[in-house]
Amino acid sequence: MKIIRATDYRDMSRKAANFLSAQVILKENCVLGLATGSTVLGIYEQLIQWYNKGDIDFSAVSTVNLDEYAGLSSEDPNSYGYYMNTNLFRHINIDPRRCHLPDGTAADLTAECLHYEELIQQLGGIDMQLLGLGENGHIGFNEPHQSFAQMTHVVELSESTRAANARFFSSEEDVPKQAVTMGVKRIMQARRILLCVSGQRKARILKEVLFGPVIPAIPGSILQMHPRLTVVADADALAEIRG
Ligand code: F6R
Repeated sequence: MKIIRATDYRDMSRKAANFLSAQVILKENCVLGLATGSTVLGIYEQLIQWYNKGDIDFSAVSTVNLDEYAGLSSEDPNSYGYYMNTNLFRHINIDPRRCHLPDGTAADLTAECLHYEELIQQLGGIDMQLLGLGENGHIGFNEPHQSFAQMTHVVELSESTRAANARFFSSEEDVPKQAVTMGVKRIMQARRILLCVSGQRKARILKEVLFGPVIPAIPGSILQMHPRLTVVADADALAEIRG
């Protein structure tokens, strides 16, 4: 595990964007595993800036997102599909046909999970998986106490996750109760993992994730077992971890 210390959110975003950009430069047709949420917004902004300067070419890149809410189409402003289009895809030269998210509107979500797994296999697996960290230690939507062994699956969202994500919806009631997420096993099969964490609210859980016991009660703790894990975190998030 490599821990990269950033001074603040901006610095974290820039350092993390550097890793993603290096991956694209090293392998122009790479497969990036992407995440949504607040943490990664600055990373996408930075990538767009470098793209606009002519420094990165995304034309051969494929992407697979970690998760999507059940029942929301990419037209819905609260969907992760909408988020990705608005915050990254439409600003860079990526081919929309190469940008993949689970289809939250699929009539049979279990079949959609299998389909998503097949797609990732066909793409040759994920070269670099970008991750944020939930305050309860979740990665993707793998909530505490879920098995480490799962591939893409349907998940019931915990109350704490629904509450944390309510800020994006008009009310907590509107936050979907289910989502489709890559499972921990699928995430662990990525060739490289880039975990990005910012803010004092994540300091305690980050310490547990990186140095506590590897237990399903803290899904992110399994990342300790990944041979190529890079953590980029700012000083606030690293407050409980000595340098
Ligand atoms: C979103 C995702 C989630 C977030 C996590 C942190 O695709 O996979 O696991 O990364 O909830 O969210 P923020 O960054 O909003 O604190």
